[in-house]
Amino acid sequence: NRRVTVQDLAAAKERGERWPMLTAYDALTARIFDEAGIPVLLVGDSAAMVVFGYDSTIPVTLDDMIPLTAAVSRATKRALVVADLPFGSYQAGPEQALESAARLMKEGGAQAVKLEGGHRVIAQVEALVSAGIPVMGHIGLTPQSVNVLGGYRVQGRSEEAAEALLSDAKELERAGVFSVVLECVPARVGAEITRQLTVPTIGIGAGPDTDAQVLVWQDMAGLSPRVAKFVKSYANLAEQLRDAATSFAEEVVAGTFPDEQHSYA
Ligand code: KIV
Ligand code: NA
Repeated sequence: NRRVTVQDLAAAKERGERWPMLTAYDALTARIFDEAGIPVLLVGDSAAMVVFGYDSTIPVTLDDMIPLTAAVSRATKRALVVADLPFGSYQAGPEQALESAARLMKEGGAQAVKLEGGHRVIAQVEALVSAGIPVMGHIGLTPQSVNVLGGYRVQGRSEEAAEALLSDAKELERAGVFSVVLECVPARVGAEITRQLTVPTIGIGAGPDTDAQVLVWQDMAGLSPRVAKFVKSYANLAEQLRDAATSFAEEVVAGTFPDEQHSYA
């Protein structure tokens, strides 16, 4: 009856057990995923798109992320809650990273934070880890760098690019991360980095051999209008919600809702 810890995730890798992670941004869905036994919930900066309607993760701020993180923390009992450090909240250096992470933990109730990048964020990772903050790394397609990457495309296709990703992953591990997200890389790169790291890897478009898998929940549940090749939809919530809204509208117009059963005598 306690929350999942980073030690639990390390032990799972030792035992060769895979685990799922989902994003969450609000209380009702976070509670459902917690009850479903999802051990790790990520308050992703993908909130920029799925909550706030921006077309990239660049605009979302720390002040935007904190209330979402607090909602997910309050609504869950068992999941480890990880919050994304948004663009501009850690790039300035270790001190800025510490201040931002502290807010996600103190005001948002997160137990861990995630940031994007390898070699270029090692000083930040070391400072956070020294301060007792569990850090999740994130390499491969790093959406906060979309303007440098030139679009949302598969990373690590060439031998050199794959080597650079492996080197970033190992540096992050040495700096003390408890896990690394691998986004949009060839399956063989996902497998090789997973084999070479002691800490768990979490794949999203990284093939079947990473230690864990993560999806944005609205993609996983068929609520998002467009999804990448790596997404599998396990429900069709967009259609169900549209049908529900249409039925409600029709009954209101027809005067059949509310009926006696939904009225007070
Ligand atoms: O913001 C996000 O949703 C993420 C995951 C896709 C890993 O960073
Ligand atoms: Na993110």
